[in-house]
Amino acid sequence: NTSTTLSDGTRIDDLIAPATREVQMRVLSDPELYELEMERIFGKTWLLLGHESELPNDGDFVVRDMGSDSVIVTRTKGAIAVNLNVCPHRGMRVATTDCGNTQIHKCNYHGWAFRPNGDFIGAPVEREQMHGKILCKEQLGLQKARVTLYGGLIFATWNLDGPSFEEFLGDTKWYFDILFQRSDRGLEVLGPPQRFMVRANWKTAGEQSAADGFHTLTLHRWLGEVGNYAKKDDKKEAGAANDLSPEMIGVEISSPHGHALRCIDLARKFVALTGMDSSKLTLDEKLNALPPPGVSKDMVPQLKRNLSEDQLKVLVSMPPQVGGIFPNILFAFVYIPQGDGSVLGLTLVHAYVPRGPDKLEFVNWILCERDTPPELREKMLEQSIQLFGTSGMVEQDDSDTWPHMTIAAKGAQGKKQTLKYQAMFETGAPAGWPGPGIVNEGFTKDDTQWHWWLYWHELMTAKQA
Ligand code: FES
Ligand code: FE
Repeated sequence: NTSTTLSDGTRIDDLIAPATREVQMRVLSDPELYELEMERIFGKTWLLLGHESELPNDGDFVVRDMGSDSVIVTRTKGAIAVNLNVCPHRGMRVATTDCGNTQIHKCNYHGWAFRPNGDFIGAPVEREQMHGKILCKEQLGLQKARVTLYGGLIFATWNLDGPSFEEFLGDTKWYFDILFQRSDRGLEVLGPPQRFMVRANWKTAGEQSAADGFHTLTLHRWLGEVGNYAKKDDKKEAGAANDLSPEMIGVEISSPHGHALRCIDLARKFVALTGMDSSKLTLDEKLNALPPPGVSKDMVPQLKRNLSEDQLKVLVSMPPQVGGIFPNILFAFVYIPQGDGSVLGLTLVHAYVPRGPDKLEFVNWILCERDTPPELREKMLEQSIQLFGTSGMVEQDDSDTWPHMTIAAKGAQGKKQTLKYQAMFETGAPAGWPGPGIVNEGFTKDDTQWHWWLYWHELMTAKQA
């Protein structure tokens, strides 16, 4: 069966060993697999393109990518449209700038023109003749993707008849709603996204986004040493490391669609950040004492309007803090202790856009609640840039690691090694856990990432239409 066999005779099935939870390392560099991924994964799943607050006015557009294809993301008559950025005449790129505002997208080559929704308007000069009479106008528009908005985030897919976005999220929607659907007016971007290239296969970043907590202890060890996690009255001697391992304990949620979440035990944070024992507090007292990252105290009533009591319980005890949406999205809702004893919440969403078998574009959106006061926005932006994204101290560690993995996967011997996901939860959900899904409690393990690979495998070996 050619659809499940590579040209050297390797079966895609054999790239994954379910019994020992291993993945052949060649998957991180193989150009043939990469081409198949563009069809079978990026041609099929829902993909993140931005946030609707980037497009406030009718006609605003940004140019983004769905896998290996450029697309135009536009606001038109209140809705968001996503169209392939390829002229149906002879294949020229239609929008050649990164962003702008227009009611007519005109191709630079022969001048065919399109409405923001992708419909064909006409060709210049001999209007009815320069596109001929063989095909009707309806057949000459830009290819249209299916679009949905979730918490203002723009997702699109080429899979017109596939699962809805809600079906795609499945059980994890219950948790994602806590982060993205919790306020009356929703989130907005703090400026355009940061974008930079990393010489690495997209899956090195993609699988880490599936809630790899373990690497923090070693790769980001300096976080404990330098002190974003250190209390201001810490009595430890200079240079002594803070123990990051309590940060690794909580609840992890896996998904049969490869999505993942790490929920952090907030009781530990409460003591560390406020000096209060949260076990004695009511739900309301907890919400007021330490509102979730990015939520000011006066927004607490909004949380109660938009979330169920069970969701609020999770939010104040074990809030989702980092995770991913398959295939290439990471989000982080993090608490940053400030020098004055307060806690700043940062909200980040990344897409790791494939740019070839050994290149990815790291796109980083910094978000805040629309109701965030201006001085807090400035602080959020400053500290997000300091810690995450292009120049961020934390994510420079990650973006230095992924290229090494990609190079290693090209070695004659390296490509025959395996990635190992054998640290398994044997716990299940904590007693009384109110949320759905595949839930496990304890020190971070490999389950969420293993589920990510299982869905990668499912899509890569699915019967092709
Ligand atoms: Fe666009 Fe000819 S290629 S008008
Ligand atoms: Fe990291």
